[in-house]
Amino acid sequence: MAEREPIGVIGTGYVGLVTAAGFAELGSDVYCIDIDAGKIERLKQGEIPIYEPGLTEMIARNRERMHFSTDIQDALDNARLLFVAVGTPPTYSGDADLSAVHAVVGAMPASDRHALVMKSTVPCGTGKNIKRLFEEQGKSGFRYVSCPEFLKEGSAIDDFLQPDRVVVGDDGDWAGDAVVELYRPLLTAEHGGEGPGELVRTDIASAEMVKLAANAFLATKISFINEIANVCEETGADVLEVAKGMGLDSRIGPKFLQPGIGFGGSCFPKDVTALKQLAGNSGYHFQLLNSVIEVNELQKRRVIGKLEKHLGPLVGKRIALLGLAFKPNTDDMREASSLVLSARLQAAGALVSAFDPIAEDEARKLIQGVRFAEDALDALTDADALVLVTEWDEFRTLDWTQVARLMAGTTVIDGRNALDPDAVRGAGLTYEGIGRG
Ligand code: UGA
Repeated sequence: MAEREPIGVIGTGYVGLVTAAGFAELGSDVYCIDIDAGKIERLKQGEIPIYEPGLTEMIARNRERMHFSTDIQDALDNARLLFVAVGTPPTYSGDADLSAVHAVVGAMPASDRHALVMKSTVPCGTGKNIKRLFEEQGKSGFRYVSCPEFLKEGSAIDDFLQPDRVVVGDDGDWAGDAVVELYRPLLTAEHGGEGPGELVRTDIASAEMVKLAANAFLATKISFINEIANVCEETGADVLEVAKGMGLDSRIGPKFLQPGIGFGGSCFPKDVTALKQLAGNSGYHFQLLNSVIEVNELQKRRVIGKLEKHLGPLVGKRIALLGLAFKPNTDDMREASSLVLSARLQAAGALVSAFDPIAEDEARKLIQGVRFAEDALDALTDADALVLVTEWDEFRTLDWTQVARLMAGTTVIDGRNALDPDAVRGAGLTYEGIGRG
């Protein structure tokens, strides 16, 4: 393998760890920095703080190339490119909180041989502001590159190794060239690689905007199909057939047209709001995004109406929630629909039991008053109704005859259209999906 450029990665959260492991897999030495000493210690022991399929193995495979430290100097000494992957959570105003990013900027020395490569999702204009800060602080030699991340939790390793595109926004200097070089093996043959990734090399502001616009567009697609599903329920159409018919139009495409009980996670809700705020702060009212957010909130609550339709008032009713994470194959509970649903159900007087194969520890920190069950069957024992909240594979293969025996009632609400309606109905249960006529 040709010698690869060593890199620093600041922040060992989800994006940081996957980026670090991915570049280590491609042959770089990676200096991973985090201010959380406990986390760095655990990482040194090979303990991976997040659940992501394949990540533990990838880090173990490349352990020799991965160096963990709390001292940013280790990265500065060994690498020119410092990838920034710190959190940018929403503030009360909906704007992104950039304090962690600014802490990193402040810790950089005056240097003309280093560059910050921004992986964290930041508002459009952040790069310009940081470059101005560098100038004010006498660090104008420090280069800046925007390189937004498009990984999906649960399939992050594949997404890293097989990107649809790599976006590099820079000032056309050595730093942008070096970032492209790092990604080269993952790019198409046209760009000298052997992967599937198209390259978009552009200016910093455009790269920042690609990230926010892409997430906002995907969220819009989901809210759109959720509204179509709601209309299907009134008109007798089946949204799955509708989505299939729509998705075969290559201009629309089949992906992200699965209706459900709303999108969650650390990105879509935050980034849609952040883009709306960004527009608002610059005097533009982004009408469409208000609706995307509102539809998503209402979609989480529609399940309550469905349950009431079957059970009447929910006071004293036992409701089992299957799945709590914001989507399968992750333990991430951020903005999960289960948070709103469990709170709404309890507010309506229902007794809630819940099971998630991986996210229970995280869920316990956020959800009160719910009985956390041993497994799916334990959760639904004596339940009047079952709601599939997260489509983990193991719920698709439940023995519905056994389920029917254990439940007190017969209502099954499939919040992700993941179950086989015939199998559920065949066991004498009542099936209701989302938008299925
Ligand atoms: C999302 C984007 O898909 C990534 O490209 C991006 O890098 C990432 O945000 C980020 O900004 O970091 P992620 O939040 O991991 O990735 O999860 P998705 O698979 O996109 O799902 C988000 C939510 O939308 C989930 O709650 C999922 O259940 C929901 N969803 C997704 C639907 O309701 N319907 C769909 O058709 C697809």
